[in-house]
Amino acid sequence: DKITAVVPAAGVGSRMAADRPKQYLLVAGKTILEHTIDRLFCHPAIQRVIIAISKTDPYFSALPLATDPRITLVDGGAERADSVFAGLAAIDDENSWVLVHDAARPCLQLSDLERLIATASLSECGAILASPVRDTMKRGFVQSPDKPQGIRETVDRENLWHALTPQMFKVKQLRDSLQHALEQGAVITDEASALEFCGYVPQLVKGRADNLKVTQPEDLALADFYLQQLTK
Ligand code: CTP
Ligand code: MG
Repeated sequence: DKITAVVPAAGVGSRMAADRPKQYLLVAGKTILEHTIDRLFCHPAIQRVIIAISKTDPYFSALPLATDPRITLVDGGAERADSVFAGLAAIDDENSWVLVHDAARPCLQLSDLERLIATASLSECGAILASPVRDTMKRGFVQSPDKPQGIRETVDRENLWHALTPQMFKVKQLRDSLQHALEQGAVITDEASALEFCGYVPQLVKGRADNLKVTQPEDLALADFYLQQLTK
């Protein structure tokens, strides 16, 4: 069955602090956004990608992707969730599956994509790629404004995961959940959190830790390395 992908790409990349949004930085010969879209089209079920970009984006139209008939553009919003919501609105069949993937995650491997799709397709409430937490986890607290935080406690990492993307859901379930969560003022930083807010239980699919979200300048060299490995 066909799966539509929605790619939020309307962020400004404030933590990267480059001369342009990070999805337009060059890594391993192409922009990060181009790598990300290529990775998605590796899967035969993904034949349409909806990209949310900023209304004032001057960069996308210069890419070869701009004339790809499989791609639809929508205007992104103020927050990531708004951009995703705008992308969902461009999907007609609300009983189909949608896969949401950050523009800033160019190192997605086909094997992870395949396992996510296999698990989500059989699920009631969708599934997300995630990687188990490796480090010991601490909860800090502000002791005083002029001192480093103190340690309140060690958080049991037994069932702790990093939420990655892609995240895959039925279009109607995700659209309704996002709408409800946003209306209620919930803090929504990924798609699954909107479903959780509505009482649904999406599933965790163990994915590779190198599916990093390029966030800070030092991530560029890592992404470059992983992409060289992928394309070898
Ligand atoms: N995104 C979006 N619309 C927004 C904010 C973010 O489509 N209003 C997208 C980004 O382009 C990115 C993904 O959501 O592909 C994940 O967001 P993040 O890594 O936080 O990117 P930025 O918001 O651009 O970076 P920063 O938070 O450092 O400003
Ligand atoms: Mg952000």
